[in-house]
Amino acid sequence: MIEGKKVLTGVKPTGKPHLGNYLGAIKPAVEMGNTAKQHIMFIADYHAINAEKNVEVLHRAIKEIACVYLAAGLDPKKTIFYRQSDVPEIFEVATILSAFTPKGFMNKAHAYKAAVDKNLAAQKPQDDGINMGLYTYPILMAADILTFDTDIVPVGKDQVQHVEIARDIAGAINAVYGKEILVQPGYVADDKIAVIPGIDGRKMSKSYGNVIPMFEDDKVLKKAVFSIKTDSKPIEEPKNPDEVLVYEIYKTIAPADKVQEMADGLRNGKLGYGHVKNMLLDAIIEKTAKEREVYNYYMAHFDEVQDILAEGAQKARGIAKQTLARLKNAVLGF
Ligand code: TRP
Repeated sequence: MIEGKKVLTGVKPTGKPHLGNYLGAIKPAVEMGNTAKQHIMFIADYHAINAEKNVEVLHRAIKEIACVYLAAGLDPKKTIFYRQSDVPEIFEVATILSAFTPKGFMNKAHAYKAAVDKNLAAQKPQDDGINMGLYTYPILMAADILTFDTDIVPVGKDQVQHVEIARDIAGAINAVYGKEILVQPGYVADDKIAVIPGIDGRKMSKSYGNVIPMFEDDKVLKKAVFSIKTDSKPIEEPKNPDEVLVYEIYKTIAPADKVQEMADGLRNGKLGYGHVKNMLLDAIIEKTAKEREVYNYYMAHFDEVQDILAEGAQKARGIAKQTLARLKNAVLGF
């Protein structure tokens, strides 16, 4: 679906991911770099200041997310990787887009509407605590996308509307000037993405507090794995693997023969919950050892990451300058 296409993904700097979003979203996104015609991943740092004003927290989150993507195997030769704030052309594009964006689009955008609904539910004034960055963030996101002539944006369901707004803004500009100045992007929604259960059996998610971390040390990892919900059946009691949460999680990461081994052991009363938790812990450590090593390396040698991001920004600006020139010429004639 993405062969021969220009693909772009923005990543919010929210710090170290857990096993669920690492395997379900980050890894597959990085792999797109192998098939896309042009693959761009950027850290949406100026978006993040709408919500995070603590500079230490934000700075650390930006560092962590950059290292996570490199640990996931992002190859800067295949993927243009940069921080949004290093590409000033994006913000100039955003200014131009604003003039073509009906205010009503912003009123209807999910992120803003959700914030308003929360205020109203708490009996506060509707715009309480809402800044203009949040209100107009679909315009900046449209600029992130349109600046790079993006064909496809891989998105979670919550972001589909924002890509549609970008598409509409590009369409409006093309209609005003009677030619294709901006590429109208499409999206692929990630509904096929593997959902990894968390330690309480619900989808693994930071907001449920049920995550298995993967970039923490072994002790923290062990604590999470040993908190996975079980019943109190003794070792020798035969257990149906499909009712054992540890097994459900194991299935998503262990090789087939090991999965079979765990299923058999549970069924015939040879394995208890302590055993299967240790097997899961070993599997996670084995599966993530390389990534954790690379992650720790880059966190300790962040100057190398800075160089990679600076080089990415140079490449991104090369493209961005061309789009901006085209757009300026269309609207100002210069
Ligand atoms: N809004 C996206 C999110 O919340 C992040 C983002 C910013 C983005 N700009 C983008 C995603 C451009 C795709 C394309 O996750």
